[in-house]
Amino acid sequence: MFDFLKPKKSKRKQVLPLFVDIHSHLLPGIDDGAQTITESLDLLYHFEALGYKKVITTPHIVQDFYPNTPSVILQKLKEVQEAATENNLKIRIEAAAEYYLDEYFYALLDQPDQLLTFGKNYILFETGFINQPAILFEAIFKMKAQGLQPILAHPERYAYLQGNYSLAPEIAERGALFQINMNSLTGYYSPAAKKTAEKLIDEGLVSFAGTDMHNMRHMENLRDAINTKYFDKLLDQGILNNTLYDS
Ligand SMILES: [Fe+2]
Repeated sequence: MFDFLKPKKSKRKQVLPLFVDIHSHLLPGIDDGAQTITESLDLLYHFEALGYKKVITTPHIVQDFYPNTPSVILQKLKEVQEAATENNLKIRIEAAAEYYLDEYFYALLDQPDQLLTFGKNYILFETGFINQPAILFEAIFKMKAQGLQPILAHPERYAYLQGNYSLAPEIAERGALFQINMNSLTGYYSPAAKKTAEKLIDEGLVSFAGTDMHNMRHMENLRDAINTKYFDKLLDQGILNNTLYDS
C-alpha cells in the first residue's frame, strides 16, 4: 500500500517509553497548576494512562507570587499521595520545586540542605522569560559549589536565549543541564520556542524531557507532542528521565 494511503492514527504513540516526569504543577492550590484535588487526580490518571510510573512534581517557588516552602509542598504532597491511593492510582508521586532565579533564590542557596532536590542532587530552576538574569552564571556557579546539579527548566522558552542561541552551549559549559518542555515540540508555546527546542535537540544539549503539566489543555497537547519527529529524536539520544525511577 502507498504510504499516504495508510491510516495515520494507527501510527500514533499512545503510551510512552518515558516513565518518569520531572516537571509539573500537580499539587492543588499552591501555584498556577492544578487548583483542586480533583484536578490533581485527573491529571495523574492521564499520566498513568500514558505510561508514566513516577512523577516528581515541582511547584513554583517565586518569592512574590508563590512563596512556597518545603513544609507547604511536602504537606500537600502527602494529601495528594493519600487521595491517589484511595482512588487506586498506582503512579508514584514525589515532589521537589521549580525555583525562580532571583536574589531570594540566590540567598536560599546558602543553605542547600533546606532546598527541595531530587535524584543526584538535581535542582530545577527557571528564569524570567524576557531578559537574561544578571546573576545567571553566578547562580549556576553557586549551585555547583554547593554540590547541587542545576537543571534549567524550558530554556527554549526564554526570549533572551531564542535571540542569542550561542548562549545555550555557554550555559551548558558552565554546568547546567537542560530540560525542555515536550509541548514546545508542537509549537504550543510559540514558533520560536519550537525552533529553539529543535535546535537544542539537534545539538544534543537536552538531558531531560518534562511535561511542565499545569492543566488538561497541556495534557491534550502532550498527546501530539509525543508524536513529533523531534520527540523521537530526543528519545533516541538517551535522555535521563528514566534513570530517576529508583532514586
Ligand atoms: Fe513549570
